[in-house]
Amino acid sequence: MSALNKIARTLVSNRRGILAADESIGTMSARLEKVGVEPTAENRRVYRELIVTTPRLAESISGVILADETFHQKLSNGRTFPEHLEDIGILAGIKVDTGAKPLAGAPDEKITEGLDGLRERVAEYVRLGATFAKWRAVITIGDNTPSPRAVRANLHALARYAGLCQEGGLVPIVEPEVLMDGAHSLERCRQVSTAVLTSLFEELDLMQVELDGIVLKPNMVVAGTGGAEQPTVADVARATVETLRETVPASVPGIAFLSGGQHPEVATQHLGAMQNLDPLPWELTYSFGRALVGPALEAWRGDESKWGAAQDALSEHAVANAAAR
Ligand code: 13P
Repeated sequence: MSALNKIARTLVSNRRGILAADESIGTMSARLEKVGVEPTAENRRVYRELIVTTPRLAESISGVILADETFHQKLSNGRTFPEHLEDIGILAGIKVDTGAKPLAGAPDEKITEGLDGLRERVAEYVRLGATFAKWRAVITIGDNTPSPRAVRANLHALARYAGLCQEGGLVPIVEPEVLMDGAHSLERCRQVSTAVLTSLFEELDLMQVELDGIVLKPNMVVAGTGGAEQPTVADVARATVETLRETVPASVPGIAFLSGGQHPEVATQHLGAMQNLDPLPWELTYSFGRALVGPALEAWRGDESKWGAAQDALSEHAVANAAAR
């Protein structure tokens, strides 16, 4: 078993999943402001400390994805975040993309940036304790989107990122997110997700990325949030697993879903329903952000006396997702 395969397997097995706490400074600041917390570097640090010091977190969480800012910050006990995660038996991951920017000539679509200097940044993150990385590409469903150029540009960048990570010793989490925004049907999400995942594996093959040393992080196949008709949990589970079966080679060790703005309980129900389908060639787990930490942030709201209640909220959702597996 290669070192990359071992890390990938650790991330997705034993009923554990990944916690995405890698919101950019802008996104994290907006989320803090929404709950009445001043968006300072120190408050972002305190909030991330709340997350990673949650009791028994390692029982249901295999890896935590951090942002660059957090990677260089310390907990109150003087340990860096990656050091603390190692202390408690959780792998430290790093988001290495630098965000989704407007794609030239395509006003409604984005291209994720961050390839320049990535080889050197990967080496530095490995030195600081990272074992895996994340890059998120966003694909928008609309009347005229996704365009072929947005799909190709984004998946090409994802594959180049994955190659650089593996060369430097990091397991790449490969995240092509088809967004839930819009009024599209489940069937349309399925068509777009199929096309995106098909192109993704062509690009990964072209870049000679070792599939047994990645973790795929896709969206679930759902209807748009503005859609009049919302599918049942069983419909989402079936459509998602069928789409993945058609597109994802069995050599990929695990698939860890993003939550994408789904209600936390619904995301957990979808995950649980998928496990009850026929035997699957890969592990199916979670790499949720909002569906894991959203309720904790709401409970905390910057109030020190709510620290325990917030950690309980995170614990409850982490345990529920592990149980759904
Ligand atoms: P959500 O689960 O909130 O979609 O976040 C997961 C993630 O890491 C997005 O890049």
